[in-house]
Amino acid sequence: MSEERHWTLADIPWHELERDRVADSEELFYMVSTASLIEITTDLYTRNLTQHFAGDEEVAGWLRDGWEPEELQHGQALREYVRRAWPDFDWDAVYRAFLEEYGARCKPEALLPLRSLEMVSRCVVEMGTSTYYTALHHVTDEPVLKRLARHIYEDEIGHYKHFYKYFRRYREREGVTRAQVLGALWHRLKMIEEEDSYIALKHVYAARHPGRRYDKRVYRRVVKRCRRLASPHVPHERSVKMLLKPLDMAPTVERWVQPVMESVARAVA
Ligand SMILES: [Fe+2]
Ligand SMILES: [Fe+2]
Repeated sequence: MSEERHWTLADIPWHELERDRVADSEELFYMVSTASLIEITTDLYTRNLTQHFAGDEEVAGWLRDGWEPEELQHGQALREYVRRAWPDFDWDAVYRAFLEEYGARCKPEALLPLRSLEMVSRCVVEMGTSTYYTALHHVTDEPVLKRLARHIYEDEIGHYKHFYKYFRRYREREGVTRAQVLGALWHRLKMIEEEDSYIALKHVYAARHPGRRYDKRVYRRVVKRCRRLASPHVPHERSVKMLLKPLDMAPTVERWVQPVMESVARAVA
């Protein structure tokens, strides 16, 4: 992370927003609004993450004073964007409905008991978010969203680097094996895109299409549309590198695995 001042909402040139470029895009609307709901509720499940690292002041302090405020800021900036780009959408009402359902279900995340493996899990999440916002940055030609998505994906990459650094430290201390790391990677990958995005989209969709039925089929249809738009812009190579990095494979093995994983990632996207 650079020593430069971190960006704030005041750095975003909101008045330059060109609504015409996004107003009619259902996909962008869904991508930005659901992300805003999820990011802004970060604090619901982070309390126990910070507790998990009690006693390690460097990690707990960074989670509390660096990571969490940045994630919340992502939510606030995306909320501001939604309000300006799609003013008919009642963000506050949708958030209330979302929070009522999500808050009741959102148990503190089940953390992996070994700190090194929990760090692996966090690396997967940050790989996922940095991929998402990078694709969003490239997919839109609306200048304010483009800039906002860049700020956010740079933050997410910074988060990844922190978690990865702490992972290495705890890997030495806890002596975890590569098989355990692979297990944690796989476990977290399976969890990506579970309940939270389903619930977020449910409330966004209900506001957009009052009275219309919403179920897994509708969810998958919307996700498919968004993916179709975003997948040409997914930074496959970088994402796969981020995913494989904690396995610490020999460069020769990594060179062999990388293209295989990239085609897998492409097929999944
Ligand atoms: Fe974020
Ligand atoms: Fe993040």
